[in-house]
Amino acid sequence: MNSLNFILLLVCFTPVSLQNGAEFTHLQSDLLNLLEIKEKPSVSRSRSQVPKYVMDLFKEQAHTSGFTKFGKSAPGKTIRTFFRDASVSADEHRFYFNLSSLQPNEQIKKAELRIFKRRSKLENTHGHFKVTVHRLNRRAVDGSTGSWKRKLTTVDTKLIKCRRVGGWIVLNVTSAVAFWSSWPSRNFGLWITVVGFGIPHSDFYIATGGRKEPILVIYGDNQEKKQDKSPKSVNEIPNETRDASSQQTRRKGKNNDDTPFTFTRSRRSVDDKCARRKLFVKFRDLNWDKWIIAPRGFSAFYCMGTCPEIIDKYFNPSNHAIIQNLLHHRYNKKIPAACCVPTSLHSMSLMYFELDGSIVLREYSGMVASTCGCR
Ligand SMILES: *[C@@H]1O[C@H](CO)[C@@H](O)[C@H](O)[C@H]1NC(C)=O
Ligand SMILES: *[C@@H]1O[C@H](CO)[C@@H](O)[C@H](O)[C@H]1NC(C)=O
Ligand SMILES: *[C@@H]1O[C@H](CO)[C@@H](O)[C@H](O)[C@H]1NC(C)=O
Repeated sequence: MNSLNFILLLVCFTPVSLQNGAEFTHLQSDLLNLLEIKEKPSVSRSRSQVPKYVMDLFKEQAHTSGFTKFGKSAPGKTIRTFFRDASVSADEHRFYFNLSSLQPNEQIKKAELRIFKRRSKLENTHGHFKVTVHRLNRRAVDGSTGSWKRKLTTVDTKLIKCRRVGGWIVLNVTSAVAFWSSWPSRNFGLWITVVGFGIPHSDFYIATGGRKEPILVIYGDNQEKKQDKSPKSVNEIPNETRDASSQQTRRKGKNNDDTPFTFTRSRRSVDDKCARRKLFVKFRDLNWDKWIIAPRGFSAFYCMGTCPEIIDKYFNPSNHAIIQNLLHHRYNKKIPAACCVPTSLHSMSLMYFELDGSIVLREYSGMVASTCGCR
């Protein structure tokens, strides 16, 4: 078969066979299982509606490849961003966030209400605002100035200078979110009151749409599945120079290596020695690029190759592996030879939309092979 026919066959055939195959569906559901995502979300929000702050959180925590950066500052391994449910209230100063996607075992480390104060319309901006956020203890009644407003618990207060330019105001609502996490049925929302000093409080405008929409950012930790303690996790970028096949496959363009199935196929052997091989699984090929915001795919390394009779330092062997391998080669073939396996693993960060349109940025430990060796 000449190469043009081969390419045409790939183009015509591959997407169909990939997406209808039972194997493909299994791969998808196994990966979802691993990521602890119950159901593939149907996306109600587009990538362009992701607030800049949330994109920056990802960049702060992870490299473009998704590898978690060393010593990133976020408390907890799961950062959730909720958008205000505007259908619940027409009132600009009331904020209701539906937190039903919070997991019951999620520990709340920190929660922030981020609101964008639009620029002042005043000529003279000398003065400041006292902004107080309260937790509502009763269901609010729209259009009524009745007694419900008095059933408030103060959560945080900030003094804000009046400025010509707009800016984000960050309020600490940790205590309110911790309360709702224990008593989900008592989430009646937040209420913001503003007092003006030297300026009328009516000059305080909160942006309500687009990328300046109010958001609630919750830093939490969920009890992760117990990871196998060996091989140990390390916090460094996997060393690119040790990969046996990445150089060869890097600039080859469209070929089989782009399909999600590369890891079930045997590859052309570049070098038989135990080494880390590079594999990139594009989320687009899994039809996941709409709901996974970043990164663009898994950089899923794997370990493959044989371990030589005498395993030198390069393969980072344990003494046990050296002895077992010697016994295999020199004494009895029934004793298995040493195996080419990951000797250190790295965390990966993933940012995706939940079913309800909220955004999750989560760190998964032990996802990527950083180094391979004989064990
Ligand atoms: C919150 O969201 C859940 C699931 O999306 C829904 O079942 C529930 O009715 C919502 N609650 C409110 C008060 O809107
Ligand atoms: C936020 O509020 C919580 C609970 O009220 C408190 O423990 C924490 O120290 C506050 N964080 C900051 C940065 O002020
Ligand atoms: C990567 O591995 C090579 C070969 O083992 C080594 O020479 C190099 O120093 C390593 N680079 C880093 C950044 O660890």
